[in-house]
Amino acid sequence: MIPLSLYIHFPWCIKKCPYCDFNSHVAKNSIPEAAYTDALLKDLESELPFVQGRKIHSIFFGGGTPSLMSGAAVEQILSAAEKHIGFANNIEITLEANPGTAEQQRFKDYRAAGVNRISLGAQSFNNQQLQNLGRIHRADETLRAVEMLHRAGVENFNLDLMFALPNQTVDEALADLQQAIALAPPHLSWYQLTLEPNTVFYSERPSVPDDDLQFDMMQAGHALLAQHGYQQYETSAFSQTGKQCRHNRNYWEFGDYLGIGAGAHGKVTLNEGSELIIRRRQKTRTPEHYLQSINPCSADVALAQNDSVTEFALNALRLIDGVPRSLFTERTGLPFSVIAPTVTQLITEGLLVDDVTRLAPTQKGAWFLNDVVARFIYG
Ligand SMILES: C[S@@+](CC[C@H](N)C(=O)[O-])C[C@H]1O[C@@H](n2cnc3c(N)ncnc32)[C@H](O)[C@@H]1O
Ligand code: SF4
Repeated sequence: MIPLSLYIHFPWCIKKCPYCDFNSHVAKNSIPEAAYTDALLKDLESELPFVQGRKIHSIFFGGGTPSLMSGAAVEQILSAAEKHIGFANNIEITLEANPGTAEQQRFKDYRAAGVNRISLGAQSFNNQQLQNLGRIHRADETLRAVEMLHRAGVENFNLDLMFALPNQTVDEALADLQQAIALAPPHLSWYQLTLEPNTVFYSERPSVPDDDLQFDMMQAGHALLAQHGYQQYETSAFSQTGKQCRHNRNYWEFGDYLGIGAGAHGKVTLNEGSELIIRRRQKTRTPEHYLQSINPCSADVALAQNDSVTEFALNALRLIDGVPRSLFTERTGLPFSVIAPTVTQLITEGLLVDDVTRLAPTQKGAWFLNDVVARFIYG
């Protein structure tokens, strides 16, 4: 059976960061937590037909800023998910927190509700950079948030950091990593800042390091992380042994997930005869419309075979070790012969590893991932 995860989107933030294109909004008045929780519960119920006897193996509260939710709301949602679907043993339950909203009691409440992993949006430890990024917190607040996590008994945590920040030098990027490493997070996400359309940074472009400098930062950063025992397992994800993020791994391994909340995406696979039908479901994006909707699902499309192939490659090849070749058929229902000629050609070009059991990028393939994935676009 294809593993099943649950993603829960919380669409509000205290302030919109100028680089962010996520579905996050500044609440005009107060956040309607009770109404939103009710809408999430209704949304969860509408997803039950897609569970197909599976238990949930990971849950992720993402945003926006889910750390603006009360412990009681988190508890209500988790109880409903456990009651109506059921949890696998050792379920991983992550909640994204902004250090500017960290509160000791809330972390304890989340822990009591079942959250066992927190992802903290540190971004940088340089106060000037935090200001450039429009963050609502300073570096010392991130340090305090980590202490609070320890006191709340959440030992499994991630720090989000970004590099290639405005006018950043290689040394500054490394100093951020060094500070992060000093906090000994079991997991580190290190993202290259991208200037996304529809953001302030896109229209008022800051001066960011050029491609060569970004490449130097990446090389030096990867070396530093490796030296401190952080193994890179995906383009931007690094972890201590045994601490990979199970939820994100499920996306990259093309597993299934239910998505609830404003703008949430889901992917579910249905068995129809001898065929697998992959459906992508999306929820109403604007929080106000989501709250008012009778049916929160705004789109539900079955993927064409070509799209399944492309999406599989797009996800699986982000993993540094790739995936077993057998996963292609398991997750798409298509025979490996569909992609065999492309795979053989990419091996010849040194972009995929020459291993009959695996589908994995070489170092060069990982650097030119977009080009590699483009080769899996058919039709
Ligand atoms: C869904 S966001 C939200 C986390 C949380 N709201 C916060 O900001 O503290 C997850 C992470 O994506 C990264 N991110 C967001 N926008 C980005 C961009 N334009 N380029 C690179 N990374 C980005 C940030 O590190 C962020 O923490
Ligand atoms: S706090 Fe996070 S989700 Fe909210 S605007 Fe900033 S980066 Fe985006």
